[in-house]
Amino acid sequence: MRQTILSAILVSSALVANAQVSLKPDNIDDVVRAMTLEEKATLVVGTSRQGSTGGMQGGNGMVGAHADLVPGAAGTTQPVARLGITPSILTDGPAGVRISPTRQNDTQTYYCTGFPVGTALACTWNQELVEQVGRAIGNEVLEYGCDVILAPGMNIHRSPLCGRNFEYYSEDPFVTGKIAAAYVRGVQSQGVGTSVKHFAVNSQETNRTEVNEVVSQRALREIYLKGFEIAVREGRPWTVMSSYNRVNGVYTQQSRDLLTTILRDEWGFDGVVMTDWTGQRNTAEQIKAGNDLMEPGAQAQTQEVIAKVKSGELSMSDLDICVKRILQYLVKTPRYRGYKYSNRPDLKAHAEVTRQSATEGMVLLKNSSATLPIKSTAKVSVFGVTAYDFIAGGTGSGDVNKAYTIDLMTGLSNAGVAVNKKLADVYLKYKEYQQSLTDAIPRRGWFWGKALLPEMALSRQIIDGQAQESDVAIITIGRQAGEGSDRKEADDFNLTDTEQQLISDVCAAFHSQNKQVVVILNMGNVLETASWKGKPDAILLAWQPGQEGGNSVADVLTGKANPSGKLSMTWPVSLIDVPSSHNFPNVRAAQRQFGGKTEFTDYTRHVEGLNVGYRYFNTYGKEVSYPFGYGLSYTSFAYSRPSVKAAKDGFVATITVTNTGKVAGKEAVELYVAAPKGGLDKPARELKSFAKTRELRPGESQTLTMNVTAYDLASYNEQTQRWETAAGTYSVQFGANVEDIRATATYRQSKAMTVKCHDVMRPDMQL
Ligand code: BGC
Repeated sequence: MRQTILSAILVSSALVANAQVSLKPDNIDDVVRAMTLEEKATLVVGTSRQGSTGGMQGGNGMVGAHADLVPGAAGTTQPVARLGITPSILTDGPAGVRISPTRQNDTQTYYCTGFPVGTALACTWNQELVEQVGRAIGNEVLEYGCDVILAPGMNIHRSPLCGRNFEYYSEDPFVTGKIAAAYVRGVQSQGVGTSVKHFAVNSQETNRTEVNEVVSQRALREIYLKGFEIAVREGRPWTVMSSYNRVNGVYTQQSRDLLTTILRDEWGFDGVVMTDWTGQRNTAEQIKAGNDLMEPGAQAQTQEVIAKVKSGELSMSDLDICVKRILQYLVKTPRYRGYKYSNRPDLKAHAEVTRQSATEGMVLLKNSSATLPIKSTAKVSVFGVTAYDFIAGGTGSGDVNKAYTIDLMTGLSNAGVAVNKKLADVYLKYKEYQQSLTDAIPRRGWFWGKALLPEMALSRQIIDGQAQESDVAIITIGRQAGEGSDRKEADDFNLTDTEQQLISDVCAAFHSQNKQVVVILNMGNVLETASWKGKPDAILLAWQPGQEGGNSVADVLTGKANPSGKLSMTWPVSLIDVPSSHNFPNVRAAQRQFGGKTEFTDYTRHVEGLNVGYRYFNTYGKEVSYPFGYGLSYTSFAYSRPSVKAAKDGFVATITVTNTGKVAGKEAVELYVAAPKGGLDKPARELKSFAKTRELRPGESQTLTMNVTAYDLASYNEQTQRWETAAGTYSVQFGANVEDIRATATYRQSKAMTVKCHDVMRPDMQL
């Protein structure tokens, strides 16, 4: 019987297949009806590496049938010419467009702008600025002939060791969601799409394609999904990328609970879900789950879809849903609209955008005795090999093929700072020598780039000589990580012995001459600081600030720009203080076995639940090196008495910030809420809003307004499967960081509020 009905469907669809339709925004149903099964099965599978089984094994980069369109882009969707279905081009992401900079038989170059990494953008706490960066990135997507950028990356910083944290934003879902929504709005304002990734709980890189991330329903909803929920509701991304890993026993790509029940039914997402760049899995299950597009795609997947529809294992109607969503996406793309791209975006203008935005994400961690900004007459000794080999971004798909990276030495020279040439020569010779060694060592594939140059040990004699000759020492410490592996504690999260020695020796030598020392941190992730931060006079966290890095750092060091970045994650005293360190790869915790599976490789239990980042440190009063939300400025700010007024839904808070210092600057105000006792157990305070002033002149004030809804205040109750906001009095706290609350007010929620959800995605293991 089933077979007969199916044959009838196939015959009727083949009959309609002859009809002359051409894809238009208003005839999508007709086009779906006109498509043959083969055409549908082709459309839901990407073009890259057709003929192989796909996946990461083939290396990354587009080698499929449409590679000629934009060489180096990550993937495509397949065209069906007879129905006017155009291909579309998907490119990485997130710190800029990632395509091949050169093409065969073509003298033109196709470099893209390397923008600050995700952590740096989040630390700006400036949604308008992130939107501006998004507009510039979106313009490059458009002008290089692409349709979607595979960004923003928005997984939660569960551990400082996650190799991809630099692409992500924060340990906090609210910051993550707001910054991601701003990025999405910016990019999509250019008429191209985004793909928020990796949905979801891609908390580690170790065995990322298989690991089962086990997490409670509450932590899932409140920590790991919340950012995506905000980005989807407020940014309306064209696409979402399902992650490689499993959550609570099920591959996210095959989870109907995640991709349909939560994402579409509860949050109202109406775009396309594509897989991360996986090989062949159970394609029918992926389609049934609501995963519309298989990337990068392999012919075997197309064959599987055809076979499974024919056998009845996959219904045509499930396939049609995915096909329809892909067509709805395609008609929005520039390629479908026939946009004539220039291949010549305004890279100069975008270099200016990255230069400025990078300075705003930099976090001034320490500045004793107003060491910074450095005096314009100062002569500077620049230590640390990273200063001469500056790191613009991370590795892997998050890397951008940019035309150049300005190193710190060059940035300082451009700013007219007198740099000690003798020391620079020592480093440049060392760099040349090291590069001659590493050039001979084959790279780990072009995708992962080269290893960083090891730090050079300097004799006390050289350092003492510098302390005699120069007025200030700058030491740069660098780190780089990327997809496919997680960081280690020794010599990565912690300093190496050579780096510790360098900081100690330079500080001792310069301090003995009453001269100051500045440390620059050039990295995308958290570093151990407690053991050495007492030694230098100033510490500037520059992050991986994009291709203009050296200029951006020089702008801050010389005071041309006043840093206003604040940490979007906690900097712990030691790695083991982070609760997830007991359940994360590469930490000291012993690996357990469970049912023949190895912990942290086959499965990782998020035993800490909600205790991620400041939710743990602040609630339990645990000492940190730098708290969440922390960052200094060259000026100071006063917070007025706040006002909190009940609104139709939730409350509206206002507070006036005044620049009480001597130079112009911006201030981000963080609004935390402490819930009334009696309901669900909650962290001591949680971030519910934030706002940043414009640049205020000395003495100038600005009133900031922040809205918080009752839903924003809700916690997830696993017993009732509802978001619940208890009635009662909430303390509304305005902080310069999570530990520095400057003003408080109260808000009375008169009636309890609940939102019913589905009881899905229960943990498949004991937590
Ligand atoms: C990464 C994605 C990326 C994709 C395409 C995957 O390995 O996880 O973030 O977008 O490759 O390059």
